[in-house]
Amino acid sequence: MCGVFGYIGERDALEVCLQGLSHLEYRGYDSTGIAGIKEGKIVFCKKAGKLSQLKTGISLPTLEIAIAHTRWATHGKVNDQNAHPHFDPALNLALIHNGIIENYDQLREELKKEGAQFSSETDTEVVAHLLAKHYLGDLAFALHETLRKIHGIFALVAIHKDHPDLIVAAARDCPLSIATDAKKSESIVSSDPNTLIGRDYDVLFLREGEIAKIEKGMVKVFDPSFQILEKKSIRIQGAVKGPSKEGFQHFMLKEIFEQPATFQKAILGRLEKGVVFDELALPTKVFEEAAKIWFIGCGTSAHAGAIGSLLLEDLASFPSFCDIASEARYRKSLMTKDALVIAVSQSGETADTLSALREVQKNGCKTLALCNVKNSTLAREADGVIFLQAGPEMSVCSTKAFTSQIAVLTLLAIFMRNIKKKLSKKMIDLYEEEIKEIPSKIQWVLDEAQKIEKMAKKYSEFNDFFFMGRRYMYPTCLEAALKLKEISYVNANGYPAGELKHGPIALLDAKFPVIAFLANQLTLEKTMSSLMEVKARGAPVLAIAPKSLQNMTKIVDDVLWVPDTLDELAPFPSSIVGQLFAYYFAKERGCDIDQPRNLAKSVTVE
Ligand code: BG6
Repeated sequence: MCGVFGYIGERDALEVCLQGLSHLEYRGYDSTGIAGIKEGKIVFCKKAGKLSQLKTGISLPTLEIAIAHTRWATHGKVNDQNAHPHFDPALNLALIHNGIIENYDQLREELKKEGAQFSSETDTEVVAHLLAKHYLGDLAFALHETLRKIHGIFALVAIHKDHPDLIVAAARDCPLSIATDAKKSESIVSSDPNTLIGRDYDVLFLREGEIAKIEKGMVKVFDPSFQILEKKSIRIQGAVKGPSKEGFQHFMLKEIFEQPATFQKAILGRLEKGVVFDELALPTKVFEEAAKIWFIGCGTSAHAGAIGSLLLEDLASFPSFCDIASEARYRKSLMTKDALVIAVSQSGETADTLSALREVQKNGCKTLALCNVKNSTLAREADGVIFLQAGPEMSVCSTKAFTSQIAVLTLLAIFMRNIKKKLSKKMIDLYEEEIKEIPSKIQWVLDEAQKIEKMAKKYSEFNDFFFMGRRYMYPTCLEAALKLKEISYVNANGYPAGELKHGPIALLDAKFPVIAFLANQLTLEKTMSSLMEVKARGAPVLAIAPKSLQNMTKIVDDVLWVPDTLDELAPFPSSIVGQLFAYYFAKERGCDIDQPRNLAKSVTVE
């Protein structure tokens, strides 16, 4: 999963590409590179490491045409050779790639038999060799011939020294948008239309096997059989400026502290006299006729889906369940016409979630996307969409998107209740009242940040953790464990509290703390028994407990308090504690919080 970008126009292509990469780093940041054409030659600079390292070492002239790349390694180590762009041995052309070429090994062997020599371990370099092999003067046609040989998913962008006025691109199952400005003075190709800054653009999205010839202010698209294609474009207003940290040290901390406001935005205009989702575009009939609701997602979004399925059960007595998307795609027996599949994804570009969505759609399921990015592939491909309205989330570690996801899922459960009329009106009024209290309860936890920082510092010497909880606190503790894993690289795992005694408890000792999420009244007694069992094995216990459980201080080693609320709404304050604990823990250990190693904001390869 990488970020690809290209520019041809009147501005300095080098500068525009570096700015484009800075907005694509969330897609991978282990190495970067840029190539352009100057006086009939390919000029380039590529380096292992972050964009900031490329910027310091770069010595390229101003350019009118350039392509640029930021990498999340799939094939080959993180080093200068494997960084993109890749070239043919004669340096006639340069190519960048997002995705995976599944048959690259066989193609590489075939090319080697023809005398080809490779300078990298990547799958991408094979495509550069093939493109050169098929080039007979028409770069777009050479790309067409190349696509016929390669299997896999990709977004490809290339330039050739003999064509200083042309960028070619192609896409299959990978996002690629092409923008031309209203004055036709420039064209931009990018993995993400949200990288367009400062102007209005007409944007089109390349789809399966389509190829584009991109010139200054002009784009021609060919279908997979290389016939000209009339493509519709949409007008997108470029962002005024890129996201900023607004004075916070990290995007993650800024986004954590945004949550009272983003929670408001998630419910804004949707919780008045029942629940309304203006942008839904799915007829109510779909919900009325659905026999089950199936949540799919990855990472944090899968945890939100798990909470969503509990909410539907409790607030609407409606059968629902959640699967991790990369596994869901194989559960054929569940893919029935009466299933409504809700795909949860912050970015809307996660390949595992998109593949599962396409699989269930193929089997006749109705699909709804819960997403934070307009014009993302998921928002465009699902039958209906509900947006989180959380604003861009820059930190790889998802925080505000998670609470916005469960805020929208709480409304969706009430929406289903109103359709199925299961729960009493009195109960729903209670939920609606309590939902309005959540922003101040989130703020209460944020005001405790210093205490949480002190606690995180105290526990930052440990390398292994169990997180435990029951019912809503189980996916909540899974999420808290994921935060700690993502940014501090410690071994942290979440378990249903009742499951510890069936094996995991064997690992416990004085060096293996347990963080117990207790904000679930329904199961508190049972959770306390599990807590006593881990205490008995000498493990330090830190409880995340509702203020009403004041006696907790006598039982556990440490407590971080959360305001009391209904079990169904308790994930909000408790997950903020988990986010801040992970943040201060990672900070204490000097980790790279916004761009943790080996991760990317969303992964567009399966
Ligand atoms: C991972 C991110 O790559 O993808 C996680 O590091 C995220 O933070 C997961 O939760 C799913 O992403 P999305 O965009 O589909 O919600």
